[in-house]
Amino acid sequence: MAIGIDIVYVPRMRNKDALAKRILSPEEFSIYNTRMDKEEFLAGRFAAKEAFLKAKRSGVGQVPFHTISVIYDGNGAPVLLFNNQKYEVSISHDGEYAVAVVIIEEMKK
Ligand SMILES: CC(C)(COP(=O)(O)OP(=O)(O)OC[C@H]1O[C@@H](n2cnc3c(N)ncnc32)[C@H](O)[C@@H]1OP(=O)(O)O)[C@@H](O)C(=O)NCCC(=O)NCCS
Repeated sequence: MAIGIDIVYVPRMRNKDALAKRILSPEEFSIYNTRMDKEEFLAGRFAAKEAFLKAKRSGVGQVPFHTISVIYDGNGAPVLLFNNQKYEVSISHDGEYAVAVVIIEEMKK
């Protein structure tokens, strides 16, 4: 098993529609466009993508962010999709910070 975590300063994501279009998957971008809390949403997604790369032991730049997609399961919980596989992800935001944790089960030894 491998774990990754990341924290993002939410105000960095204020009025960043162009960044959102570039780093969000098409499904995430559709959700982003419906959200009132756009900067928290974008910060949480950014954190989730970086947490995934940490868990995967990949450097930023090796995997395009828009190919990592965090959508919702039937209960409203987030699920991370990459290359047709699902990964555990948890996101939280409060005030100026958003955090995300990702677990990759198959890296068990
Ligand atoms: C999940 C929950 C506790 C989040 O509480 P919060 O402290 O207000 O918000 P946080 O900032 O910590 O977390 C928000 C993130 O939680 C995640 N989340 C939402 N619903 C979730 C759920 N059911 N399970 C796990 N994570 C959830 C989302 O990723 C959300 O971030 P996003 O909107 O940017 O994607 C709250 O939304 C809740 O109680 N939801 C209802 C849960 C529910 O309906 N469960 C039904 C089965 S028992």
